[in-house]
Amino acid sequence: MHEAIDRILVSEEVIGHRIDVLAGKIMEGGVDDLMIVVLLKGAMVFGADLFRRMPVRLDLECMNISSYHGGMKSSGEVKFLDVGMPDFLGKRVIVVDDIFDTGLTMEAVCGVIKGAGASSVESCVLLAKDKERGVEYTPDYVGFTIGDEFVVGYGLDYKGKYRNLPYVGVLREDVI
Ligand code: IMP
Ligand code: MG
Repeated sequence: MHEAIDRILVSEEVIGHRIDVLAGKIMEGGVDDLMIVVLLKGAMVFGADLFRRMPVRLDLECMNISSYHGGMKSSGEVKFLDVGMPDFLGKRVIVVDDIFDTGLTMEAVCGVIKGAGASSVESCVLLAKDKERGVEYTPDYVGFTIGDEFVVGYGLDYKGKYRNLPYVGVLREDVI
């Protein structure tokens, strides 16, 4: 375990088994005109592990979205950092993110993709925080529900660091 980590919440092995299940469920929903949209940077690790378990014909796109701006809570503003947008017309889109927190990111991104002509838009998140939310939206596929605490690893960062840790963990308080 990395010295900055207080405890591991979800191990690499447990994450791997859960992604097998999630990939299977997504494919059961149909693989025609399937498009996976990975939200950068946080979902790059989860997304790569997820779509490699889906050996079907699909489109892969990334979108660069920012809402935490490196800190420890949502800024409340979802920024779309890309210049252009993928072509979503007629696609069954699965938006993949690392964590569902306030829900603002997913709600905004799914709304934009639906508005751009996707035939359907679903969401898949590795983690969802168990908390009260202002938004109505709920993700379609959830890996693990965790408490309302700040986590890093497996793509999730604190000030840009710790994304490379292979597990999801809680930072030691004196590191923050
Ligand atoms: P939401 O829009 O509040 O649901 O936030 C989603 C985004 O916030 C995620 O894509 C993450 O980038 C970031 N985020 C939320 N919670 C955490 C956390 O505990 N650690 C690191 N990033 C987080
Ligand atoms: Mg993110």
